[in-house]
Amino acid sequence: MELAKPSFIRESLKLAAEPNIISFGGGNPDANYFPADALLSACEEALRLDWRNALQYAITEGNIELRKILLALMEHIGISAELSQIIITSGSQQGLDMTGKVFLDPGDKVIVESPTYMGAINAFKYYQPQFLEVAMDEQGMDMDDLERVLNAHPDAKFIYTVPDFQNPTGRVLSGERRRRLVELAEQYDVMVIEDNPYYFLRFEGTGVPPVKAYDKYGRVIFLGSMSKILSPSLRIGWIIGPETALEKYVILKQAADIHTNELSQRMVAQFFLHENLDQHIALINKQYKVKKDLMVQKISDCFPAHISFTKPEGGLFLWLELPEKIDAQEIFQCAYADERVIFVPGETFYANGGHRNTIRLCFSSMSTFEIDSGMDRLAAVLKNFIS
Ligand SMILES: Cc1ncc(COP(=O)(O)O)c(C=O)c1O
Repeated sequence: MELAKPSFIRESLKLAAEPNIISFGGGNPDANYFPADALLSACEEALRLDWRNALQYAITEGNIELRKILLALMEHIGISAELSQIIITSGSQQGLDMTGKVFLDPGDKVIVESPTYMGAINAFKYYQPQFLEVAMDEQGMDMDDLERVLNAHPDAKFIYTVPDFQNPTGRVLSGERRRRLVELAEQYDVMVIEDNPYYFLRFEGTGVPPVKAYDKYGRVIFLGSMSKILSPSLRIGWIIGPETALEKYVILKQAADIHTNELSQRMVAQFFLHENLDQHIALINKQYKVKKDLMVQKISDCFPAHISFTKPEGGLFLWLELPEKIDAQEIFQCAYADERVIFVPGETFYANGGHRNTIRLCFSSMSTFEIDSGMDRLAAVLKNFIS
């Protein structure tokens, strides 16, 4: 329990509930676009069709109908798998925790992007690995740096990547690098954990298939999620990977929670059968593009010079790098106390700390009015720190 410390995001989410706070902190989808009516019908239908089983204990691997639906969705984006190669998890966060349990003994080496999703760092750290960070640029993880790390640590257990609209930077790993990532994994006999909850949230540009689509060797374990495209409270995620690995995940999941909420699983299946997911995603992406464009515009117009930032083509986040000596934790304190604006200081996304001059901003959850005003207020604070 020495390792169990409160997470900064959890704490800052509590601040977001205070009155008059504008939060660019937690990565919440815009609640105004949750398909509540469709989910109400899906719930009624799931219960009407077979309430005895919808409310009963169920198999650990997950609801078969939902797994078949998700296999079809995955096929559509280039991932082919059998029913025995997919399981349902309670959000992809559970997939991350179980990945730590399956693969890691204390002292094992895990390769992560620098920066990376702090929820993954937190999930893995309880299995006490050594984190090895790989540099990133605008095209995602730098493959030459990855090769250098693999060369120095050929015993690494897995490479963890968020290839599409990465949390926290919003960056996308290029197609060429995806191919090379899989080849390097094969060459160095290491697994790749592809955590891809933002894949469908592309609102401009053209995408490339998931890393798993490039995988000829069974090296990649894919983690998917309904949280960002439907609703996070349903807690529906999935894992696609080799059967030999999934067998272990299933044993661990049985011990953890027996199975994912069966009613939620059946609701999602009914949603797919009766609604048009593409249409729903197009609707949310349209809103997110407006918000992202506004946030980018505000940074260009109002923030001090010498701040570099990403201009993501999808997802929920953009990433700021301030001049080196500036401490985002101090900016956070002022922004919260003086201007009632919060965000996530970037240090929490670095597995080994440091980089205190970075900031993650989430553009999805606030209204355009709040983004407009919140960015003005944040600009005022930044001007006091950066002349
Ligand atoms: C990269 C990444 N992975 C996993 C998760 C967890 O998602 P879920 O709600 O599916 O557990 C998140 C949530 O923000 C995320 O950003």
